[in-house]
Amino acid sequence: MNTLIAARGITKHFGATKALDGVDLDIFAGEVHVLLGENGAGKSTLVKVLAGIHSPDAGTIEGHASLAVIHQELALVPELSVAENLFLNRLPRRFGFVDRAEMRRRAPELLRRVGLDVDPDAKVGDLGIAQQQMIEIARALDKDAGVLILDEPTAVLTDTETDRLLRIMAQLRDNGVGLVFITHHLDEIQRVADRITVLRDGRSVGVLGPRATPQHMIELMVGRPIDEQYPRARQRPGTPLLSIQGLTRRGVFEDISIEVHAGEVVGIAGLVGAGRTEVARAAFGVDAYDHGTVAVDGKPLRRHDVQAAIKAGLGLVPEDRKGQGLVLTATVGQNLELVTLDDRDQSRLHDIAGKLRIKGRVEQPVKELSGGNQQKVVIGKWLLADPKVLILDEPTRGVDVGAKVEIYELINRMTAQGRAVLLVSSDLPEVIGMSDRVVVMAHGRVAGELPEGATQDQVMALAVQEIPA
Ligand SMILES: Nc1ncnc2c1ncn2[C@@H]1O[C@H](COP(=O)(O)OP(=O)(O)OP(=O)(O)O)[C@@H](O)[C@H]1O
Ligand SMILES: [Mg+2]
Repeated sequence: MNTLIAARGITKHFGATKALDGVDLDIFAGEVHVLLGENGAGKSTLVKVLAGIHSPDAGTIEGHASLAVIHQELALVPELSVAENLFLNRLPRRFGFVDRAEMRRRAPELLRRVGLDVDPDAKVGDLGIAQQQMIEIARALDKDAGVLILDEPTAVLTDTETDRLLRIMAQLRDNGVGLVFITHHLDEIQRVADRITVLRDGRSVGVLGPRATPQHMIELMVGRPIDEQYPRARQRPGTPLLSIQGLTRRGVFEDISIEVHAGEVVGIAGLVGAGRTEVARAAFGVDAYDHGTVAVDGKPLRRHDVQAAIKAGLGLVPEDRKGQGLVLTATVGQNLELVTLDDRDQSRLHDIAGKLRIKGRVEQPVKELSGGNQQKVVIGKWLLADPKVLILDEPTRGVDVGAKVEIYELINRMTAQGRAVLLVSSDLPEVIGMSDRVVVMAHGRVAGELPEGATQDQVMALAVQEIPA
């Protein structure tokens, strides 16, 4: 075996937190090596130690290859163009000047490699989060490194994009590149992994082979089996709590009508670009719309007024947690209280942090938490506010298998208390498994509705349907 990286006994503390505790890791040429573990297990910290961003407190690293890393948190500059971001810190130069012609010539090539169809001159900040992720990937691929590390690249990707990325990864492996791949999606692991190192509480608790079953992976990472992945407990629906009627934003979505009753979870499925997030944002008052009405518990909401929406009892967990969901420099506790703004009731705060198994102290700045734990804080904030209607947009992105089930249990608890949930999700098993009915959107319109127990094929058939103009 040609070993590209040999790490031994890696230990890393952050204050009182022991993020890594004597971890050994070998990366071979021509393998996809998966790092698997719960939120906060130490995966990203290990990546940052390998990349030289953190120096370990103990341990050694022997490296025999150049390294390219795609970090969990995107490192693009939103104000710059796609092409500029692709060549950030390594702009092609000619006679000492940035060679824009060369940049423009090479950018389309790189974009084609990852199958991304965007204008190289477009501003990165105007692109969707999945497209931004593909740009990061294109940039890393261009470095032609011996070892490529990908920290949860698929968390924000669609199925099609994920397929493409997994194929690119397999090609690189066949060319002798060593890949380190982090994901919480066990199906992806089964598709590409050659070996799986499982981390638990900063320790490596085992290295599995490519034929490991999901049950085996879960037991090793969580320390216990998980019986039911989608434990939806249905309620008898009550009065309509959320009524969206004929909602239209020209060129974005048209004539959307969705009703969610007390005790219900209604899912919204569809392809990226179908308009799901846009409808959620408009209903919550973040964006304006041209026609239609949104009412909570019978009370019509003022258009484009988030404060009015919150007052009426509506909540939204946004898909982009960093941009819209969190104040990164504030503490976990302060973030949890952002909506309720009532710090008298500290016990509920600890209760929510405990139920979601947020790994981190409430006095700790959110930016010190692992990615998945940050996501749990966004959800916790809204659960604490206890709105009548909660819209969840991709709530379990980057959340580990065990914590997902905790979030589903909290959704069950909300609906058992007569609240209503609108669940926007690209994760088909999730949206099917946790919704009482699923509305499928395509091209900015409602393409159809499916009852509980729908199949993935039925959802996809509606999602890809062409709607006549
Ligand atoms: N800069 C930091 N300061 C303080 N604590 C940190 C810092 N970075 C990480 N930690 C802590 O180290 C532990 C491991 O975090 P890490 O980000 O490596 O987890 P992870 O396995 O990548 O989780 P996730 O699946 O959520 O991304 C966590 O308890 C986290 O809060
Ligand atoms: Mg991480």
